[in-house]
Amino acid sequence: MGKEVQTIGVLTSGGDAPGMNAAIRAVVREALAKGKKVKGILRGYAGLLDEDIIDMNAQSVSNILQRGGTILETARCLEFCTEEGQQRGAEVCRKQGIDGIVVIGGDGSFRGAQKLAAHGINTIGVPGTIDLDIACTDYTIGFDTAVNTAMDAIDKIRDTASSHQRCSIIEVMGRHAGYIALWCGLANGAEQVLIPEKYDYDEQKIVDDIIANRKRGKRHYIIINAEGIGHSTSMARRFEAATGMETRATILGHMQRGGSPTCKDRVYASTMGAMAADLLCEGKSNRVVAYKDGQFVDFDIDEALAMQKDFSEYQYDLAGRI
Ligand code: ADP
Ligand code: F6P
Repeated sequence: MGKEVQTIGVLTSGGDAPGMNAAIRAVVREALAKGKKVKGILRGYAGLLDEDIIDMNAQSVSNILQRGGTILETARCLEFCTEEGQQRGAEVCRKQGIDGIVVIGGDGSFRGAQKLAAHGINTIGVPGTIDLDIACTDYTIGFDTAVNTAMDAIDKIRDTASSHQRCSIIEVMGRHAGYIALWCGLANGAEQVLIPEKYDYDEQKIVDDIIANRKRGKRHYIIINAEGIGHSTSMARRFEAATGMETRATILGHMQRGGSPTCKDRVYASTMGAMAADLLCEGKSNRVVAYKDGQFVDFDIDEALAMQKDFSEYQYDLAGRI
């Protein structure tokens, strides 16, 4: 059992994700319910170093559960990757009386949390990223909303692709991870899913498949391309030239990061935020909340960061078959 915390800080870091507000609300209200003070740290680690810190009460988080983005705003902060930055971050916490912090973000943000814990500030991570690319958890805040947003957009593009008998390449987010692309591949019934984990860059195979599909009378050809593969516009030009089928590229971009969170994101983010506050109240530090094998659990951050993310070969092959 570690030391008892009196004042809990909360920050969001890295890319924003729908549901982060639900997690902030839960941290604040759960901590207040347990008699703690709460401070909001604006713009992630950048705001910590700038001492951009506000007092929070129950009203501070009114009417935010249904809103996308993060009311605390977020940032990427290079300075916090340095030992000096981390030391200063811990000093700011001590000066502000913050003895526990909830960090809502991805793997990078967890590395920052790990460093703060090593400098004596109790820290708990909550997985927030639309990419679903955190190894220790089967759920990350924002993925469900993002993948539903992408699915709706792809349905719309499919309507017009069919009407015009076109091939459509739709680029979805995921620089290093293809989970959004894979899920849309299955949810939208795409003809191809190109993801960083699997793509072999054999364009001729795709060209042959487009031609074969056309011959079978298929009226559209949908390719979901993950951001990590990218180059959708030039790919469209090459495919059109090689197949004779009109081809358009659409990059969905940051629309996938915004919007009102789904029910699942609101409920899971609320649960995880509250659990993070509970863990701090129990004196725990250097842990992350996760959803694994159907249960909300927590792991040591060092162990969590060393885990390898599962990738469903079955679902990937299935996307190709059906
Ligand atoms: P995410 O949290 O979504 O993975 P990033 O990788 O951009 O996003 O990380 C968010 C922030 O976390 C970075 O801008 C930086 O401030 C902090 N961070 C990332 N890696 C480290 C590290 N190794 N040590 C300390 N802080 C880090
Ligand atoms: O990590 C979330 C994410 O949206 C990735 O899918 C994407 O590669 C990246 O952030 C984009 O970052 P930025 O907002 O800096 O363009």
